[in-house]
Amino acid sequence: MTDLSHPASLPAADQFMELRQRVENEYQSRFGRVPSVVAAAPGRVNLIGEHIDYNNGFVLPMAIERYVIIAAAPCSDPSHEHAIFYSSDLQESTDIPIGASFGPTCSGWGRYVEGVVAGFVSRGCDVPPLEAVIGSSVPSGGGLSSSAALEVATATMLEGITDHQIEPLEKAILCQHAEHAFAGMPCGIMDQFSSVFGMPGELMLLDCMSQEIQVVPFREEDVSVLITNSNIKHELTGGEYAERRRQCESALEKLDLLSWRDVRLADLEAACDRLNDDELACGRHVVTEIARTLDAAKAFSNGQWALVGELMYSSHESLQKDFRVSCDELDALVRITREIGSEGGVYGSRMTGGGFGGCIVTLVHSDCASAVRERILTQYENETGVQGSSFASRPALGAHLIKRNGNDN
Ligand code: GLA
Repeated sequence: MTDLSHPASLPAADQFMELRQRVENEYQSRFGRVPSVVAAAPGRVNLIGEHIDYNNGFVLPMAIERYVIIAAAPCSDPSHEHAIFYSSDLQESTDIPIGASFGPTCSGWGRYVEGVVAGFVSRGCDVPPLEAVIGSSVPSGGGLSSSAALEVATATMLEGITDHQIEPLEKAILCQHAEHAFAGMPCGIMDQFSSVFGMPGELMLLDCMSQEIQVVPFREEDVSVLITNSNIKHELTGGEYAERRRQCESALEKLDLLSWRDVRLADLEAACDRLNDDELACGRHVVTEIARTLDAAKAFSNGQWALVGELMYSSHESLQKDFRVSCDELDALVRITREIGSEGGVYGSRMTGGGFGGCIVTLVHSDCASAVRERILTQYENETGVQGSSFASRPALGAHLIKRNGNDN
């Protein structure tokens, strides 16, 4: 029987405080002093608009009540030439060089941190030797942007340590660049934007071409966002993501158009002898998903939950069949939510994030959220033998300093 009573069920504010306490206590016991700066940055869930950010379309994410928190202080021994980061979850530490750096010297999670430190240094910012402890409540490998949360938390911590504030837009782009250049993942801008700009009660309709955000209020207490992790992990640096991105680019080139926003389904059909099957299928997903995202943003604003739900199911089907980034476990989870259906309080559901594993996102009537969660997890485990996990989240606050110059912010 799946345990629903683990800490994920604690109220979000308590979970946040617990994580903060854990990170600060760890800091105190490792380094024998209190941190001068504590920074937090959230993960995100994308409601719709998947694999669309790098295609210059629209996406509709929200920051979630799961955070990376980093406590830090300048090093007591200033002759040190490194920044030391300790991950309290993985119980390992990594030394990050703080001089000019153009590529990764670290491996694993250190690359994300190193890329952000390098971004600060290349902007002429004097990063001092420092010691830091990282803790996270964003599941890793779950498609909820744990890496963007780590990058943005690192950047926010560095702003506090150096007293050098970076414009939020530039901060998001600095972090995206860290991921490209240091982790080798050619991601779009959605994850870092969501982690920087998240606001309680708001979804973000992000125009990935102009990089402008249109706020879509989401304060309806009767409707909840349930996030269910298949617990099938997939590293997006593995190559399929870059391959999909290339297929989209080569299709657009063959269509001789500058942006996917100018492409209609009829253009794709007319070009079917110039595009190979993969390019055609990817193009079909991109064109239809851009339209679905705009429709969903409107439906969200109007409280048309059944319509939002239908658009989510269609998005999943398109990601499964045309874009081919789903997997059996994600498909099983979405099917289970469909079986629960509107009578059971489910409006709609889809895979979220890069895919090949990770999470689904489900829109449910709040009164039914616990029952839906229990049924999904039980049936998923019975069918696949894999134990999933699930939590609800409201739209959360983006990156912020909890403590600076030794005082609570
Ligand atoms: C990953 C990337 C994002 C986005 C999603 C798919 O999360 O980091 O930029 O492309 O996949 O929507």
